[in-house]
Amino acid sequence: MSFTADRLLLFGATGDLSQRMLLPSLCALDADELLDPDLRIIGTARSDLDDASFRNLAREALEKYLPAERRGGMANFLNRLSYQQLDATTLDGFSDLAAKVGEPNQGLAIFLSTAPSLFEPTIKGLQHAGLDGDHVRMCLEKPLGVDLASSCEINDAVAQAFPEDRIFRIDHYLGKETVQNLLALRFANILFEPIWNSNYIDHVQVTVAETVGLEGRVAFYDDAGALRDMVQNHMLQLVAMLAMEPPTSFDATAVRDEKVKVLRAMRKVTATETVTGQYRAGAISGEAVPGYDEELGKDSDTETFTAIKGHIDNWRWKGVPFYLRTGKRLPERVTEIVVQFRCVPHSIFAGMGATMEPNRLVIGIQPEENITLNLTAKVPGLGQDGIRLRPVPLNIAMPDAFVGQHRRIAYERLLLDLIEGDQTLFVRRDEVEAQWQWVDSIREIWNSTDQKPKTYTAGTWGPSAAIALAERDGVSWHE
Ligand code: BG6
Repeated sequence: MSFTADRLLLFGATGDLSQRMLLPSLCALDADELLDPDLRIIGTARSDLDDASFRNLAREALEKYLPAERRGGMANFLNRLSYQQLDATTLDGFSDLAAKVGEPNQGLAIFLSTAPSLFEPTIKGLQHAGLDGDHVRMCLEKPLGVDLASSCEINDAVAQAFPEDRIFRIDHYLGKETVQNLLALRFANILFEPIWNSNYIDHVQVTVAETVGLEGRVAFYDDAGALRDMVQNHMLQLVAMLAMEPPTSFDATAVRDEKVKVLRAMRKVTATETVTGQYRAGAISGEAVPGYDEELGKDSDTETFTAIKGHIDNWRWKGVPFYLRTGKRLPERVTEIVVQFRCVPHSIFAGMGATMEPNRLVIGIQPEENITLNLTAKVPGLGQDGIRLRPVPLNIAMPDAFVGQHRRIAYERLLLDLIEGDQTLFVRRDEVEAQWQWVDSIREIWNSTDQKPKTYTAGTWGPSAAIALAERDGVSWHE
């Protein structure tokens, strides 16, 4: 059912995500006059706050996390906020919550940013209080389970109250401009699609490197690890966008139908196709940082780094390795995709002493939003002792190409789509389950071969085995 929500109910409203991302995103949208004047935002959490103290908490969060130039109209935004305390584990408080939400004129969007253990009781409470009708949408924040079975349990619980066309599963990478731009790059240009296959592409690399460590998320991260925290969701979504067939339109069903086909075609990896690592004390940008075990306060077998050689078993990608790597405490924060093309089939310059490098497309997702295509050019000169060729970059710096646009928080786009009811950038149940299926198969391999993470020094690119994983195939990670 199509409607623009005029009530937004935030569960976990006092939490970290709400303070760092959700409230700032909503305030920024408001400053840009993208929110309906009638939209009311109701926060709920366990903390005993009233409307005024929630607005204070929100003001502090905005001052901390939203740049001053995007805070115009903050007073107006704060006036939209109200708060209702709730213990979601019992049904008792839900009627008061419903009274606080009131009767929306159009519809209600609910954002669940709580521990997954609260999903089920929360859904029951919402049903009990009548907050589940045709005019209600449900948005879920990760983690959605720890494996396929637990993810199915969550999905089943939510499905009892909400049909799939009113469930919005967040993967915040899909809210990033540069990730959406992958679709524009691939499907709005004639150049790439004809060569976007195993005939012309040698391999693909996807790197999501972070410099941060545990960031205080001790219990959560140690139960998750890099595979569940980053590969299961963000990295597989990047792979799906890179590898999918052209959808017939930019529409939620068409796009997600194509993504899920890729996710289902991911081949089970073998033991020699993955590497895991855990950081030890080291230095990042000249600053000493402790090891994972020190931050955690105990020994652990959780991986803070993983590298995987993946394959997509379909016609387009047969034989093209997708090298994925992600880790905490790496030397720099960078998310990038490298598409390495094959050599030309025959070099007319070979007899003239010229060596040439195959083309390479590097797509910077963050922090640099650059697209670089390496082309081969002739080095100027008379060429008496042969012709010399060299790769030269064709560079597009997105911020320079689009001057005057502000860099938005990924959640701005996603919250707006939730309010307006567009599911294109949200993850469908079959996608999440295909992602878990692949990730579970990797965990099974690790368990059955008793694979323990190798150590790496913080500030380096992971264990040396990760370099060997690519170099065995004659491939170097792009750095
Ligand atoms: C989250 C992970 O989903 O993504 C974090 O739980 C990670 O561990 C974060 O730091 C990275 O997001 P971004 O947008 O900073 O790349």
